[in-house]
Amino acid sequence: MCGIVGYTGKNPALPFLLEGLRTLEYRGYDSAGVELEAPSGSLTEVKCKGRVAALAALCEKLDATQTTGIAHTRWATHGEPSDANAHPHRDCSGRVAVVHNGIIENFQELVAELEERGHHFASETDSEVIAHLIEEALAGPAEGDFALAVSLATSRLEGSWAIACLSAASPGEILCCRKGSPLVLASTPDGAYAASDVTALAHTTSHVVNLGEGQIARLLPTGEVSVFEGDLTPVAEPDTFDIDWDASAATLGGYPDFMAKEIAEQPEAIERLLEGRLGQDGIVLDELRLSPEEVAAIDRIYVVACGTSWHVGLIAKTYFETWARIPTTVECASEFNYEEILTTDHTLCVIITQSGETADTLASARKMQAAGAKVIAITNVLGSSAARESDGVLYVQAGPEIAVASTKAYTAQLVAAALLALFLARANGAISLSEVRSRFREMQRAPELIRIVLSRAWQDEVAAQAFASAHSALFLGRGVSSTTAREGALKLKEISYLHAEAYPAGEMKHGPIALVEPGYPVVVVVPESHVRDKTISNLQEVNARGATTIALATNGDVRVAQLASHLLLVPPAPEWLSPVVDVVHLQLLARYVALARGCDVDKPRNLAKSVTVE
Ligand code: F6R
Repeated sequence: MCGIVGYTGKNPALPFLLEGLRTLEYRGYDSAGVELEAPSGSLTEVKCKGRVAALAALCEKLDATQTTGIAHTRWATHGEPSDANAHPHRDCSGRVAVVHNGIIENFQELVAELEERGHHFASETDSEVIAHLIEEALAGPAEGDFALAVSLATSRLEGSWAIACLSAASPGEILCCRKGSPLVLASTPDGAYAASDVTALAHTTSHVVNLGEGQIARLLPTGEVSVFEGDLTPVAEPDTFDIDWDASAATLGGYPDFMAKEIAEQPEAIERLLEGRLGQDGIVLDELRLSPEEVAAIDRIYVVACGTSWHVGLIAKTYFETWARIPTTVECASEFNYEEILTTDHTLCVIITQSGETADTLASARKMQAAGAKVIAITNVLGSSAARESDGVLYVQAGPEIAVASTKAYTAQLVAAALLALFLARANGAISLSEVRSRFREMQRAPELIRIVLSRAWQDEVAAQAFASAHSALFLGRGVSSTTAREGALKLKEISYLHAEAYPAGEMKHGPIALVEPGYPVVVVVPESHVRDKTISNLQEVNARGATTIALATNGDVRVAQLASHLLLVPPAPEWLSPVVDVVHLQLLARYVALARGCDVDKPRNLAKSVTVE
């Protein structure tokens, strides 16, 4: 949800700002803008509707030697994507410029108040109020003190924000602050940097300052980064961490798109995650920060997540209940936040979030903590809000996921959830050490099984033809495969814009079967499992109505092969592990359908990678 970057230092700012925006474009891409500041304080702004490439083309006309600047790539919340609504936003005098990620919930009251005092607004955004509030504070109580003006201005805001701003009266200085939206900073000999996440900073440094909730930072051209609490009390030891992946991890590296790269990276991601996880007494999850007594006492689990991560939760429930025998409820965070919760004295909340910044998921974690539950985060992003705010964290270590549609984080999160379930199961004595070892050995086979699926990508390319003239598609499966079907349908709709609906296969006859007509594509996920025969009956039912069936089946399943129009073959896998393997075919299928329809698979319309608004 919007990416922001800032730089002040020795070098021209524009190259870093544009490169940073390109890296952060997955966060939003409906408009982009940059504000450069000369040593005299004079500000130069370029902004436009469209992608960072459009902004970069406009910037070519600039003779941009300025060494201070801020920039933004937007995912619209308030005000349509347009030149005027693109960030940065300025105050009335044009001497304050602001970029913002988040939502200012009380902006309408503030706009009314500011207009009454004579301010004029140039956009329909909620963000512009920040520039006008800073303008007023600079002229009034802050008496020209930029940091104080930012502190006073943000004290009027309700909602969430990560902000970087410039003031012509304080040339070379960038003021940043955050509440609820992420912001990282770096101090280097070349200058000081700010960015919404570490991917934009990986080329510049490996050591990052994580701006804390409610804190304010001052960045100077010397590279100095000073951090203050919201009331400007200095923070002696800001929160810092090291970036543990190199910048090349966030580049295409020869692949045609990030989605292709990230699908292909799944075996290595899982290998990394499993390394060193089997110890003498079971699964090693030292990073959880919960005592053995706390772990053994857990008697109820809530799994809360959004989107693809919620699908991980649906499968994790099976692991927690089957292995650890702990009753588990799985909730979409956006719904959960407004529901009653029934915690016990030993309730565990597991949040699953690739980005670690999804606003609804973070709100759920806070709600559970307030109710007395311990929260464990399964996340991919080091130092993310989810990691910092939770009682324990399990990093999935999938490396940066740039394509908006989640692929490698999904499978890595599934494996992480399985590790956690085995860990809990051992801690409460629900399963034996030898069973933990057997399940772990099965898990270790996942990379090899996925490689086999990857080598069969041609099957997905061929099957994609079944969607050539389709307006809609149905995905069916039973048991854990019904969630794989859901995930396949989500991937297809988000990147190909083709409507897709997933249904538990046995439920289909209660309604969705009415959709089926000759040629209608139906994907049936029917690997070897205890419900295979039942799913085959459902496959026959849609066949009987003329559907074009695409069956995901286990090698050598002659019965399914005889019934399906297209086959996506998977190697034999334990049923519990099949979601990790099978989904790879559906990721590939969605990508091929999207490419055939001319879609941008990495940046689907209307979406953003990191959903930091509720
Ligand atoms: C779909 C997708 C989204 C995310 C969802 C939650 O491919 O990526 O549905 O899964 O926005 O994001 P995280 O996992 O970052 O909380």
